[in-house]
Amino acid sequence: MPAPNIETIVSLSKRRGFVYPASEIYGGLGSSWDYGPLGVELANNIKKSWWNWLVYERDDIEGLDSSIIQNRLTWKYSGHETTFSDPLVDCRACKGRFRLDKLLDVQCPNHPAVHPGDDKECDLTEAREFNVMFRTTVGAVASDEDESALAYLRPETAQGIFINFANVLNTSRRKLSFGRAQIGKAFRNEVTPGNFIFRTREFEQMEMEYFVRPEDAPRIHQEWIDGFQDWIKSLGISDSNLSLYEQSDKELAHYAERTVDIMYRYFPEREEEDKQWDELMGIANRTDYDLRVHSKKPEDAEGKRINADSTDDLSYFDTQTNERFYPYVIEPAIGVNRTLLAVMMDAYTEKTNEKGETRVILKLTPELAPIKVAVLPLAKNKPEITELAKKLRRDLQPSMRAVYDDTGGIGKLYARQDEIGTPFCVTVDHESLEDNAVTVRDRDTWEQERVSIETLKEYLEKRLS
Ligand code: GAP
Repeated sequence: MPAPNIETIVSLSKRRGFVYPASEIYGGLGSSWDYGPLGVELANNIKKSWWNWLVYERDDIEGLDSSIIQNRLTWKYSGHETTFSDPLVDCRACKGRFRLDKLLDVQCPNHPAVHPGDDKECDLTEAREFNVMFRTTVGAVASDEDESALAYLRPETAQGIFINFANVLNTSRRKLSFGRAQIGKAFRNEVTPGNFIFRTREFEQMEMEYFVRPEDAPRIHQEWIDGFQDWIKSLGISDSNLSLYEQSDKELAHYAERTVDIMYRYFPEREEEDKQWDELMGIANRTDYDLRVHSKKPEDAEGKRINADSTDDLSYFDTQTNERFYPYVIEPAIGVNRTLLAVMMDAYTEKTNEKGETRVILKLTPELAPIKVAVLPLAKNKPEITELAKKLRRDLQPSMRAVYDDTGGIGKLYARQDEIGTPFCVTVDHESLEDNAVTVRDRDTWEQERVSIETLKEYLEKRLS
């Protein structure tokens, strides 16, 4: 089934408690969103899947959690202070301010049917560069203008990994190839945020820096491109809504030799097929740029980027070949929020019941579903039944996220669980008191099966795995 448009997911998210507009009671804050009870579970499950796959299932990757605010020099030497900017244009007619390369993502404030620049009244200025790093000050300073206290909220988690390269190497003593994984918030003062949680100013990244011998970089880069497509598909995202995009030389970031983006069909409603896609993640070959620029002895081939401030050399010594060099780094970088949006869009389906009513079913994989099982009493006024249902929920909870709900008729309760992606509903009825069994209903097929209470946990664990 083709993915629904983002607006459908915005409405489902608000209705069911996945994502709400932030500061809503004060009129919101443009592109900020808060994650409700189900959204936080879904995001956590995505992060767990990523971490399990990279850090626990492999032998060569370890985790890290670095600070959001680092010494400003980090961003000077990484190149972000001078190059981390977007092309900004103003419109003299509507007074709007837009990101030149993302005009398609927004509507003209005066003529919402078209994009800025597409109406004859639009009068866009020449583009100028706008640095998107959020500025802040550290400590008690006399004024916000005090440059000595200037710091930034990190615009990517990656730099925390690079500047800790030697620290982690000294404690883990690994041999190439090896990786460092980090999940955390990043901040960009985006010129044109929008499309719900697709582009926001505060977001969460899952970044992995995989250090390799320079000659291995092209091959290992390709392996990660393939590997990540498989991981994304394991989240339930269908192949037909994924594509690859090879960045052109003009698009490559200042540090990258080659970058391939995995694209998701976020805009299925757009007529032109090539405009339906946008970036879910990027997988870059960052060369040895980062380790070199943060090193005390950073001469590159041209003798540029001399770092007079670093106290360490982030090179690597290979004890087998007696060579010292700067490893290349392959970086798969993906946003939690964009993944969550793609997962919800892909899981969204509609089904018509025998009464002709259309029901939403969120076909999340069991691994990602915020709630794995809902225990529902068929007669909410009968204490023997409700008590048994509550006990079953408590017994299941240590091994799977289980909830109890008696706030409606059974049809309504099933519909609610389908809409939030709960794979199984367990119904306790009058017969349960006699035969010690319950009815298990499958979210996707709506088929029901009688299962003895004694084997319920094993039965669900098996079907969820
Ligand atoms: N360290 C490399 C890096 O940060 P990026 O392509 O700028 O690369 C990586 O960001 C991923 O982070 C993107 O593919 C996207 O999933 C997510 N991301 C970037 N900017 C975002 C934003 N403003 N809002 C939500 N997610 C964003």
